Amino acid sequence: LSKRAAELLAIAVTVAREAADTARSMRAEGVSGVSTKSTDTDVVTAADRAVERQVIAALGALRPGDTVLGEEYGGTDGAGSVRWVVDPIDGTVNYLYGLPQYAVSLAAEVDGVAVAGVVRNAATGDEWTATLGGGAYRGRRRLGGSTQTDLAQVLVATGFGYDAKRRAHQAEVLTRLITRVRDIRRFGAAALDLCLAAEGGVDAYFEKGLNPWDHAAGGLIAREAGLLVGGLDGRPAGPDMVVAAPPAIFGPLTELLAELDAAGGP
Ligand code: IPD
Repeated sequence: LSKRAAELLAIAVTVAREAADTARSMRAEGVSGVSTKSTDTDVVTAADRAVERQVIAALGALRPGDTVLGEEYGGTDGAGSVRWVVDPIDGTVNYLYGLPQYAVSLAAEVDGVAVAGVVRNAATGDEWTATLGGGAYRGRRRLGGSTQTDLAQVLVATGFGYDAKRRAHQAEVLTRLITRVRDIRRFGAAALDLCLAAEGGVDAYFEKGLNPWDHAAGGLIAREAGLLVGGLDGRPAGPDMVVAAPPAIFGPLTELLAELDAAGGP
């Protein structure tokens, strides 16, 4: 598996670099083709669509027969056991405003398990990678996440969905969480948040309502950096909740989030 994972990672990195170049050069020309998706705050741009089309075409040429799941087009069905999960631009609102926190996220799953993943910040060129069992890296530097053991000292990143009712519930959770941890950060790109947790830039991260493309690659990177990644009450990471935290913090943080009903509400 490790050889296969390494081969899939090499393809992921090649494709993600080209995709990130497209996103960055399109941003340099100004943002175009802006429209909204699920709500008025959920934006998509011409770059999201163009980058995803490019990724699908590149994967189709290099790995015909694989399945692709993408944020903008849904993707393509293949007969093989490999599925690629792509977020062409994670952090689209940052992209819109020119904030340098938007990324291409690409993961390869074999039989439903992420075995290789890359997240490339398209604005800065910073790149995080991981293979299952092979560790997590930022460039060539091997990563280890926070080893914090005291929940009261945890710097935790999070994000919000695009639905107003969900946001109201998420805000209620935060008003109660803020008194129990060191502080809270919201950067605007789930994949980059998970990479930041992987390198100890924050101690932990959680978010309700993510889609697979938001956390497939970043989740593998965080796990390979030594963090625990999962949902609440022993469930796997999924649409209810994604939590990434150091081993000593994962239990207390997920219990607190369950107590605050962080996976509840709309
Ligand atoms: C969003 C970002 C954001 C998170 C949202 C995601 P998008 O992805 O990752 O940080 O809070 O839940 O939907 O829409 O920019 O690809």
